[in-house]
Parts: sequence; structure tokens; C-alpha cells
Amino acid sequence: MPWYYAVAERDHVLQNPTSPEKIRQLGERLRLGPGSRVLDMACGMAGPAVLLADTFGCRVVGVERAHEFAAEAKRRVEDAGLAELVEIVEGDAAAFPVEPGTFDAALCLGASFVWSGLEGTLAALGPVVRAGGHVVVGEPYWRVWPLPDEVDDIGAVPLRDTVGRIERAGLKLVTLIDSSLDDWDTYESLHWRAAEEWLAENPGDPDAPGIRTRYEQHREAYLAFEREALGWAIFAARKP
Ligand SMILES: C[S@@+](CC[C@H](N)C(=O)[O-])C[C@H]1O[C@@H](n2cnc3c(N)ncnc32)[C@H](O)[C@@H]1O
Repeated sequence: MPWYYAVAERDHVLQNPTSPEKIRQLGERLRLGPGSRVLDMACGMAGPAVLLADTFGCRVVGVERAHEFAAEAKRRVEDAGLAELVEIVEGDAAAFPVEPGTFDAALCLGASFVWSGLEGTLAALGPVVRAGGHVVVGEPYWRVWPLPDEVDDIGAVPLRDTVGRIERAGLKLVTLIDSSLDDWDTYESLHWRAAEEWLAENPGDPDAPGIRTRYEQHREAYLAFEREALGWAIFAARKP
């Protein structure tokens, strides 16, 4: 079976509901520059890493477990002429050895499940950055609470509770970059187009019914409730 996300996200630059402008805005807020070192855990196809290195001249280490994405990330870094600045490591972010206090910023955009949730992610990334550096997470949150019984909470909580978890980890929230409805529609629609194109290219593939069912279920959940009720934001927190 082709991995669902390798099909559905093959056209994505950013594998989250955000935009290149917002990733650059993040870099400005973090005061990144040529001397900065950034760790991007679960870096996907290096969309954020390429934008940050290209815009600010910072060094980025990206860690990505999926072979398909890590290989594409390396290609995109090469194509952007950024091989001197961006290193892509294929492997499990949870097992990646990092010397404490060695990065100016540690990012995990859309993958806190790697450490079983936000608290675990903050506990893992906090020690990695120097004092005065930043831990950055991209997380979904609910705009509507409590949720209707039939809606799966997908492990997300309301925004205030997300910020509470960051504060309890001893970090100071200094930047919030929220996703717009356009960001969401772009992110979700790219899945639909990629899935339909892949299905048209592979009509007899034994996995085609599974790919169709999965993407249509995602699309239905988005259109029925999530588009209205699910938020996503980048939270940047300073380590005192
Ligand atoms: C929602 S995508 C986000 C990708 C990227 N951060 C971005 O914003 O474009 C989540 C990524 O986490 C990766 N991932 C999942 N588990 C991982 C792990 N244990 N270690 C490293 N990467 C992992 C997935 O392969 C996927 O690329």
C-alpha cells in the first residue's frame, strides 16, 4: 500500500495549515539570522526549513522519520541551493540525540504525537535550546468547547488550555501565529486534489479503494465540523 500521506501530501510545500508568509513571520519573531541554529523535529519535506534558511541565512537541522518525506526534503534542499545550511536527518525525532542548550530554536510543527502530546513535546524540546532561545510548536486547538458527542477530540484542547500547558512547562509564550480559513482550505484542498489525481493515474491499483475511503472521510470531517471549529496555530515560547 502506498503510504496515505505520501499520496495525499505529495504537492504540499508546508504540511500544515499555514503559509510561507507566516513561516517567515515566525523567523522574524524568533530574530533568526545567519548566526542562528534551528532544530526542526518532524520536518516533513523541509518546507519550513527551506523557507527559514533561505530568508534568514540560519542553519537548520531537520529530523524526519518517513523515508519518502526525508528523501523529498533532501531533494528540495538541494534544489534550493541550501545544502550548506540545511541538514536533513532521516530518523525518529524521539531518539535523536541533542546536546542540551545547543540550539537557538527548536521547532515541532504538527507532530507533538511523537512525544505523546504537547506536554511531552515541551519536555523534550525545552532542554535543547539555550536560555533566551525559543521552543516552537504548531498545534491544533478547538474553537468550540465542549465538543458534540460524535466529534473525536483528536487530542486537542481549547486555545487557553494549550497556552496553559506551555506556561506550566516553564516557558513564556511570546508569539502566536494563527491559521486563517484560507490556510486551512489550501492545506485540506491539496489533499483532495492529490488523491483524485493519484486515483485517476492508478485506476486498477488494489489500494485505490482504501485511499479513496480515507481521503473522503477526512474531507467529510473537515466540511462537516472541523472547518468551523478546529483551529491551528504556531506557538513560540521563550525559555527564560
Ligand atoms: C503534519 S507533518 C508536518 C511536517 C512539517 N513539520 C511541516 O510543517 O511541513 C508531520 C510529520 O511528522 C513526521 N513524523 C511522524 N513521526 C515522526 C517521528 N517519530 N520522527 C520524525 N518525524 C516523524 C511525519 O512523517 C510527517 O512528515
